[in-house]
Amino acid sequence: MPARPVRIAPSLLAADFARLGEEARAAAAAGADWLHLDIMDGHFVPNISFGPVVVKALRQHASIPFDVHLMISPADPYIPAFAEAGADIISLHPEAGPHLHRSLQSIRALGKKAGVVLNPATPVSAVEHVLDLTDLILVMSVNPGFGGQAFLPSQLVKIATLRAMIDASGREIALQVDGGVTAETAPHCIEAGADVLVAGTAVFGKPDYAAAIAALRGQG
Ligand code: DX5
Ligand code: ZN
Repeated sequence: MPARPVRIAPSLLAADFARLGEEARAAAAAGADWLHLDIMDGHFVPNISFGPVVVKALRQHASIPFDVHLMISPADPYIPAFAEAGADIISLHPEAGPHLHRSLQSIRALGKKAGVVLNPATPVSAVEHVLDLTDLILVMSVNPGFGGQAFLPSQLVKIATLRAMIDASGREIALQVDGGVTAETAPHCIEAGADVLVAGTAVFGKPDYAAAIAALRGQG
C-alpha cells in the first residue's frame, strides 16, 4: 500500500501572540500545509484564546488553508462569523451542542469543510452516523484547553479504529490528531492511520520551524 501523504498543521496557540501575523507567515514559509487555529471560550474549556476578528486579520498573512478548531459552547451561533473570517475547515465537538448533524449541515451550507472533534473520552460512535456530512475527524490526544500537554497513547487505538471506519466508508475524510504531537509521537499517529498532524509546541517552541515540520514528517 502506498504511504499516505501526511499534512502538518501548526497550531498558533504556541506562537508569540504579540506577533501572530509574522508567526503565521513564518509557519507557511516553513512548509506548513494548514494553519490550525484554536478557539477557546473559557466555558467549554478552561482557557480563552481569540475569536473571528483575529482569524480575519491573519488571513492577509497566509494563504494556506485555515483549520479552525472550535472549543466553544454553543458553537452554532458563531459558525457564520468564522466562515466569513476566512476559515476553510471548521471543526467542533459533539458535546458543544445538542444537534451535531445540524451543526455540520450549517458549516457545509456556508461552503466550508466540516470537522468533528473527539475528546479523549468520546467514543468513535459519536461520529459514526454523520460521516456523510464530515470532511475531517480530529482525535484529541490531550484534554482540550492548553498546549504543551503530554500525548495520551490511549488514543492510538481510536485513531486506528477511525482509519478502518473511514476506509470502509470510501469517503474522503481527513483523520487528524491534536495534542502532544512531537517528532517522537508523530510516527505512532501516522502508523495508526492519521494523515493530518496538529503541533503547537513542537513547531512554535522550536527555533527552526522548517526543521521542526520536517521532523514531524519523519524527515528530520
Ligand atoms: C489544545 C489544542 C491544541 C494545542 C496543541 O486544546 O486543541 O491544538 O494547541 O498544542 P501542543 O501541540 O503543544 O500539544
Ligand atoms: Zn486544536
